[in-house]
Amino acid sequence: MDIQENDPNYQRLEELRREINFHDYQYFVHDNPVISDYEYDQLVKELRHIEDEHPEWITPDSPTQRVGGKVSERFEKVQHPTSILSLSNAFGVDGVEAWYNRILRLDRRVVNADYVVEPKIDGLTVVLHYQDGIFTQGATRGDGEIGENITTNLKTIRSLPLKVPIDKNIDPPPFLVVRGEAFITLEDFEELNERLAKEAKKPYLNPRNTAAGSLRQLDPKLTASRSLRIFIYDIVSGEGMFPDTQLDQLKYLKDLGFPMIPWEHFRTLDDAINKAQKWEQLRNELPYEVDGVVIKINSLHLSNDLGVVGRDPRGAIAFKFQAKEVTTQLMDIGVNVGRTGVLTPYAILEPVEIGGVIVKQATLHNFDYIAEKDIREGDRVAVKRAGDVIPYVIGPILAARTNDISIYIPPHNCPSCSEPVERLEDEVAWYCVNSACPAQLIRNLEHFVSRGGMDIDGMGIKIVEQLVNTNLVQDAADLYNLHKADLLSLEGFGEKKADNLLNAIKVSKNRPISRLINALGIRGVGITMARDLANHFSGLDSLSKATIDDLISIEGVGPHTAQAIVDWFELPRNELLLKKLRRAGVWPQADLSHDENRSPQKLRGMTFVVSGALPGFTREEVRSFIETHGGKVTSSVSRATNYLVLGENPGSKLEKAKSLGVTVIQENELRRLAN
Ligand code: IVH
Repeated sequence: MDIQENDPNYQRLEELRREINFHDYQYFVHDNPVISDYEYDQLVKELRHIEDEHPEWITPDSPTQRVGGKVSERFEKVQHPTSILSLSNAFGVDGVEAWYNRILRLDRRVVNADYVVEPKIDGLTVVLHYQDGIFTQGATRGDGEIGENITTNLKTIRSLPLKVPIDKNIDPPPFLVVRGEAFITLEDFEELNERLAKEAKKPYLNPRNTAAGSLRQLDPKLTASRSLRIFIYDIVSGEGMFPDTQLDQLKYLKDLGFPMIPWEHFRTLDDAINKAQKWEQLRNELPYEVDGVVIKINSLHLSNDLGVVGRDPRGAIAFKFQAKEVTTQLMDIGVNVGRTGVLTPYAILEPVEIGGVIVKQATLHNFDYIAEKDIREGDRVAVKRAGDVIPYVIGPILAARTNDISIYIPPHNCPSCSEPVERLEDEVAWYCVNSACPAQLIRNLEHFVSRGGMDIDGMGIKIVEQLVNTNLVQDAADLYNLHKADLLSLEGFGEKKADNLLNAIKVSKNRPISRLINALGIRGVGITMARDLANHFSGLDSLSKATIDDLISIEGVGPHTAQAIVDWFELPRNELLLKKLRRAGVWPQADLSHDENRSPQKLRGMTFVVSGALPGFTREEVRSFIETHGGKVTSSVSRATNYLVLGENPGSKLEKAKSLGVTVIQENELRRLAN
């Protein structure tokens, strides 16, 4: 025996790796953590400590090595052990029956076949190699023969086992190659795009591209930040195991600890088709994008004997769902001006129904996208809607274009203030850089008065617009100089409403400094970072003098945000705003005895999931509300969830919450919990 294997530290290291792998599996595959995050972190810390002392013991399959590895210029090519096949498609029940009749003519045994039905996930195929149970290589499908080696990036997917079996007492196969689909949930997709939009980066077009794009990043840290998932459904090649059926194969992989595709077994094709149709109806409620259902003959022997046509095995068929794509008239291209001045184009459509919802507007992403696709006002366009994701324009139907419509030219001037727009280096977005632009001011004020900001009760977008349009307010500080007569001059205001609003404005002067920092709307600074800044600086005076170096020394503040903070305080207009706020008495000091500055209160340690639309919050607002009060928001319900906050039209989360015994609450109960 090796000396190292007798070393108690080495034995502990092995034990820790086993335990951490097991807890990853419980958490990411089963959504069922059995220890607290804290305990988990302690295990990882202990493992890192031993690895620090003994770097020679670090192996690539250690759970500490999920994010790491070098960044290469490109991905090397790898040969698959056997061809990575595709599937033929069937549209509608007729298509499936035609498939059945075709294979029945080839082999009479088909009469007695049974079937396995699995969703067809719209993601990226990946091919994973395990040597003696250890994950050694992961690749894309490529052309089916040769793929790209994306091992380092795949390792960042936490449900992908680095070592199998995980918790069962079975021997690992000496060699195993499995196939699966990497994907991103619709919710994570949306969140990612929101984040990219905030950073003025190009959003992804759909979940499929996101999964593919994220796995082809040269920096594995980026991949790690993308919350990708994976489902396994097939053995491509292996030694030491001989499953007879698809069912046995799936069960075997499940026992090894792989995150498995959901499946169901049916005795007859009719039952399988029935199920496929049910899946299609439920499609909108699934948390991920599914473009069909795969019906597979259960017997692997029969499937093998049926052979392959081109690249499509005869033993399985994809029952494709109807596309959630329609065509309609693009009447106009509108342009929104955001809080930071970013101009975002959107499509104004001839209203059209897509998957049961009337769609009148759709995103056009950015001006480059419009140019790339040559989308023109007056075009007939294809529009797609996937799950809850905002519909987007895929592109023009060129055959339907009439000659007399002209190329779309992005505005040279801001649609709100008419000042010329500018493009910043390295960015896709065009900006209105006029600091006095009313559209930006309105968005800024909306943010300033919102719940995560100064929380001025009763002041919504309508009133903000009125105040800006009548010139009563030119910056946030002007809110604190409003008089009753000013408000009474506005439409819809009576004595009571004016008094209430003035009172709410007065009350907001006492908000903690973290809220004010958030309210200022500095790019990249949300409530969590605002709180970190509030912890660090004695007040706005010292924050405004902070250098880039001061700022990046704070955990969580990167160079971009540090720069944005310094830039913000340097703008003369913002200097003036601060001067006015101070004069108006809105000048909270860092007060660590203030719960909210330090770290928040009532919801601390609680995890929330929000489902459906809430009457009093936008999606972003409810998140910031929960975070402001110390809670955590996650995207999917698990046993670690404390509360599901229920709005209108909740999706499948409600069922999940019920089945796990998670407490379901409404918006008003959430507010009560927090206060
Ligand atoms: S079976 C021989 N099962 O769909 C195995 N494919 O259009 C053939 N896909 O390239 C594939 N979910 O990437 C199979 N449950 C599933 C699937 C699935 C998604 C993808 C797969 C394939 C594509 C074919």
